[in-house]
Amino acid sequence: MNTVAVVGAQWGDEGKGKIVDLLAADADVVVRFQGGNNAAHTLVVDGEKFVLRLVPAGALHQGKICVIGNGTVVDPLALLEEIGDLKRRGRLRDDSLLKLSSAAQMVMPYHRAIDRAREARLGQNAIGTTGFGIGPAYEDKAARAGLRFDDLFDFNSFREKLERNIRDRNAYLKTILKAKSVSSAEIIQQMRKVRTRLMRYICDTSAFLHAAMADGKRVLFEGAHGVMLDIDHGTYPFVTSSNCGAGAIFSGAGIAPGSLDAVLGISKAYSTRVGAGPFPTEISGRLADAMREEGNEFGSATGRPRRLGWFDAVLTRHAIRLNGIWRLALTKLDVLTGIDPLKVCVAYQFRGKRFDQLPPNRQMLSKVKPVYESLPGWTERIGAARSVNDLPENARRYIDRLAEVCAVRLAMVGVGAARDATIILENPFAP
Ligand code: GDP
Ligand code: IMO
Ligand code: MG
Repeated sequence: MNTVAVVGAQWGDEGKGKIVDLLAADADVVVRFQGGNNAAHTLVVDGEKFVLRLVPAGALHQGKICVIGNGTVVDPLALLEEIGDLKRRGRLRDDSLLKLSSAAQMVMPYHRAIDRAREARLGQNAIGTTGFGIGPAYEDKAARAGLRFDDLFDFNSFREKLERNIRDRNAYLKTILKAKSVSSAEIIQQMRKVRTRLMRYICDTSAFLHAAMADGKRVLFEGAHGVMLDIDHGTYPFVTSSNCGAGAIFSGAGIAPGSLDAVLGISKAYSTRVGAGPFPTEISGRLADAMREEGNEFGSATGRPRRLGWFDAVLTRHAIRLNGIWRLALTKLDVLTGIDPLKVCVAYQFRGKRFDQLPPNRQMLSKVKPVYESLPGWTERIGAARSVNDLPENARRYIDRLAEVCAVRLAMVGVGAARDATIILENPFAP
């Protein structure tokens, strides 16, 4: 296979970054196609931890080209900070290795201010966004008022559009949101500096990808967030503002439908969610606290504690159907060591009716009762397992049952945060 996508099958933070980093060893190009720095993908390589927000997780391998596609929303200041950090740590030294789409949208300080002010105003009803301005930036894109990186080519006209936007958004911030306005002079000065430093990366990434694919290069698409945060297919309105599935690759990277060979879905062996919204298999109390500690379940973007729950096969089947998932990579199986019994949600119940698929009305999701199966746990540490045969019998039974109830085969099983702490059953790039 030459073109492979990695997508989140839950509510984000499934461990996509680790799997992309692993697969990137055999890829030539790694591409982000949606989202912004609301994503936080953690990689642990040779004991060193990296959190990537905008730069694709190919950056830790020598010579891989990293592409930030047109479907993304990019905070230029956050991107420059991330590039600077990677350079300081000896990565991404060669500027030709990073390509930023001229058609990607810019996230501006007023987007962040609006995001935060709206969340504050919503109070108890807040979505729990990352506060990085993602929603307001996608709004401007849809309203055709957004600034794109190609606007930087003519700074005078860029400045005019920017000033107009700042005037409008400041009026909204002050009168409607009762929040502090942003400084036009400061933003223009920042953008002037940004321009000088970013121009070298800006190009037509769709044309670049087309040429790379025609040349037989291996391309890996790195999804951000997860299907349940997808603006259409997730738990609206408790979602992010982009499509997060494989379907978004064609529009978000500018490649033709049909040019994708396989989609690898990523799911934890249990569930987590950051932010508000329905979570049918959520658990609380001591077990959730213990799992949060063991799995270090604190958001990499915002440090917020993640909500914890059992594995949900209904949601996973939804993710598989929407994305045409070829295989599933299960991550963080090691975190379940010592928990007995383990529960797996195989269906939902609502007013006496059983649902094997998501109920048609998403509002019902916060009211459904999970139908659980219980499976026996194991006590052995499994971090050193590199083949399924190294796993205790009950761990094997657990992953086999997850695959069975989701009607999917497993490609990988994660047993630790490090790059090599993975059981690889099938590598999509293998000859
Ligand atoms: P992403 O946003 O999908 O890339 O996931 P995050 O990086 O936000 O969160 C996943 C967390 O789990 C990170 O801290 C990873 O280092 C860690 N992780 C990934 N796979 C495994 C695994 O198999 N076992 C353990 N213990 N940690 C893992
Ligand atoms: P990765 O790529 C987990 C969640 C936020 C919030 C909602 C909307 O690391 O898996 P936004 O700032 O996007 O408007 O917030 O979406 N969210 C994520 N949760 N992982 C992510 O990305 C997320 N990206 C957005 O917590 O509930
Ligand atoms: Mg994350």
